[in-house]
Amino acid sequence: MIRSRRDFFRSLPGAAALPSSWVAFTRTLEAAPGIPDATNEAYWRMVQRQFPLEDGLIFLHAANVCPASRPVLDRYVEFLRDFEANPSFQNREKYDPLQERLRRKLAAVLGASADEIAVTRNTSEGNNVVAKGIDLKAGDEVLITDHNHPSNEASWKMRAKREGFVVRSVPVTIPAPGCEQLLDGIVRAVTPRTKVIAVTHVTNTTGILFPVKELADFARGRGIWMHLDGAQTFGALDVNVRAIGCDSYAASAHKWAMGPLEAGVLYVRSERIPELWPSIVTAGWSDRLVGARKFEVLGQRDNPRVVAFDAAVDFLQLLSMKNVEARMRLLANALKQKLREMPRVQLLTNLEPQLSGGVVKFRIRDADTRRAYDALWSRHRISGAMTPATTASNQEGIRLCPHIYNSLEQIDRTAAAVQELTG
Ligand SMILES: Cc1ncc(COP(=O)(O)O)c(C=O)c1O
Repeated sequence: MIRSRRDFFRSLPGAAALPSSWVAFTRTLEAAPGIPDATNEAYWRMVQRQFPLEDGLIFLHAANVCPASRPVLDRYVEFLRDFEANPSFQNREKYDPLQERLRRKLAAVLGASADEIAVTRNTSEGNNVVAKGIDLKAGDEVLITDHNHPSNEASWKMRAKREGFVVRSVPVTIPAPGCEQLLDGIVRAVTPRTKVIAVTHVTNTTGILFPVKELADFARGRGIWMHLDGAQTFGALDVNVRAIGCDSYAASAHKWAMGPLEAGVLYVRSERIPELWPSIVTAGWSDRLVGARKFEVLGQRDNPRVVAFDAAVDFLQLLSMKNVEARMRLLANALKQKLREMPRVQLLTNLEPQLSGGVVKFRIRDADTRRAYDALWSRHRISGAMTPATTASNQEGIRLCPHIYNSLEQIDRTAAAVQELTG
């Protein structure tokens, strides 16, 4: 676990390989005044300056992709140049140990062991490996919710169509009435035939944080596989998969972890690894691969991306995941509080920290959502998402997701822009 700049330098194969932006960042971090808690504005301004985002852009789209910081980007570009200048097997030999180092770091960040970690391409892939790979037979049941992402919903349903097992979807109420009710809704839908519960840690639809520990405790007691879609929590919340007790967890590097595009992580609890079939088998695959490595043999990979993912994990660890979560929550809460005070705004995300994370969604009553969304972009360069209604409780709305590269001042400007739209 990296706790200090000194630890960080010790963890590298050679400090000479570091681009100047890394050195500058770690020096600034060490010299930063005050405690780096969520309210230290000077500290977070320094963090914000690490991101080469366009001037004037208010980027509130973390649920989709996040920008990489300059130090992460520079480490990626450096290795990419090196790869393209010399793509020989000999020059690429260094990537196997780098991938193992990344695996160990991901394990440390998520509270797992290295053998339980696969380096995938994104959450969709991780969700599909699980949805395709668990042995299920006709009559078995898989429980999902009606706020699951398609990669953790259509994936199960498509397989069920071919193989005859049943996928049951639990309806979610918005705003979430409470942790007990969320838990109860799922527990009541379980039958003796339920083999899998597959839920979303924080939903991309309206930002509900599910009581996943309680759910995992319940599932474990009945031998039910509990899969967690972590797309909206990895890099946003201080996630510990062992403390949660889930059987598998899938996430992307390019969302809240501020890593490279098309990189991801799949955790599978060690006792469950022998039960999961890999979806893709190609050159390099073998029955002798240890642990979750058998889920990441996907053909030729973009090796330099491993270094960028590794750098993104370093970046998070240097800031500390606890501090990152606290700052992200401070920004998200500030936004929610301001939206809640506007009479024409209906906040579709819960305020309570135990029921929400960084995803914030709202709608403006009696207004055209598309027009409001377009106006935020064209008049204010606020980048979020317009998300459609998908179920009775997931209404059309605007989703804005702040992260550590945003400032309180940007939250104020965003709230003022929404206020302007409400007339
Ligand atoms: C909850 C959830 N799961 C899965 C995904 C898919 O992520 P990716 O496109 O990185 O595979 C998303 C994307 O937004 C998501 O929000």
